[in-house]
Amino acid sequence: MIKAVMFDTKPYDIESFDKVIGDDIEINYYETKLDRRTAELARGCDVVITFVNDVLDGEVIARLATLDVKLIALRCAGFNNVDFKAAYGKIHIVRVPAYSPHAVAEHTMAMLLTSLRRIHKAYNRTRDFNFSIAGFTGFDLYGRTVGVIGAGKIGRAFIDICNGFGMRVLAYDKYPGEGVNAEFVELDKLISESDIISLHCPLTEENYHIIDGDSISRMKDGVYILNTSRGALIDAESLLEGIKSKKIGAACLDVYEEESDVFFDDRSGHILQDDTLARLLSMPNVLVTSHQAFLTEEALAGIAETTVANIRAFFGGEKLVNEICYHCSDGDVGECKKQRGGRCF
Ligand code: NAI
Repeated sequence: MIKAVMFDTKPYDIESFDKVIGDDIEINYYETKLDRRTAELARGCDVVITFVNDVLDGEVIARLATLDVKLIALRCAGFNNVDFKAAYGKIHIVRVPAYSPHAVAEHTMAMLLTSLRRIHKAYNRTRDFNFSIAGFTGFDLYGRTVGVIGAGKIGRAFIDICNGFGMRVLAYDKYPGEGVNAEFVELDKLISESDIISLHCPLTEENYHIIDGDSISRMKDGVYILNTSRGALIDAESLLEGIKSKKIGAACLDVYEEESDVFFDDRSGHILQDDTLARLLSMPNVLVTSHQAFLTEEALAGIAETTVANIRAFFGGEKLVNEICYHCSDGDVGECKKQRGGRCF
């Protein structure tokens, strides 16, 4: 029996994982997030299953290693919260590289349309028998320029949707691939020519605050900024300044730099301590969802299936196709052990 502990568990996680675990895996579900304080809950477990806001820094990983945890299974794609170099040689780390890029791409377009056509405001008005449409003027997406930063799986799905709307699609990617239905341009051109900018790249040290005061100043007046990727791609203070000065026409955010203390929980009735988020939420042209872009039936099923397959592959001695690559051959370790033996170490 493989013993696992899941952190930051929601009812929909239990439902989707219970459907696929079978008799060979037992999961203890905890609502609490993983951090230095809660790592002890992994005692006696072989696997730790985590999500986007669990803390997996060097200290937590060292603690898990002393508890004899053998595998960290991320039930998400992004791994910016993981010190995977600290885990190298101690604990293997697997992830779910793709579950439903369409879920995130479709949510991005849903946010754009909601904000642009004021659907959320119209919904509230008509429920109050207020049938005025004053203040709801949007603009046609047809013929407008959208700039997509990061043309990977989600970026491409979003690009395809934008093409369906008849938009001019620009893309910037650090490693541009083939077969993308967009015009690849330099970041500066994308920033200065786009009516709508959508972020779909992973968060790395290099692109931290890729949207900041400087890049915002080079954008078109009235630009729409969409972020369904990772919060720290945007400097939230600069975003707020851009909104206040009316440089930015609207912001649609499914992620936020300091989301880990706020998102995923019901905080109604509490005093929100994050002044920047509170101010952003007070703006009529800022739409925030709390990291729900992935939340479709297809994506949840895909996450559970791949996570469980990753766990079985590890304990079955198979190749770990979804192990996060440490890129050891770039550093001091020499050849890539994953390429040769199917595992990083
Ligand atoms: P992917 O790996 O398929 O694509 C990412 C693309 O970004 C790649 O083409 C890569 O070359 C490019 N890239 C890397 N560094 C870059 C840089 N500095 N500048 C420009 N482009 C860069 O990943 P996928 O599946 O498309 O996911 C993208 C991101 O979406 C994830 O890293 C994650 O942060 C976020 N995400 C958000 C979800 C949500 O619920 N809001 C759910 C799933 C993913």
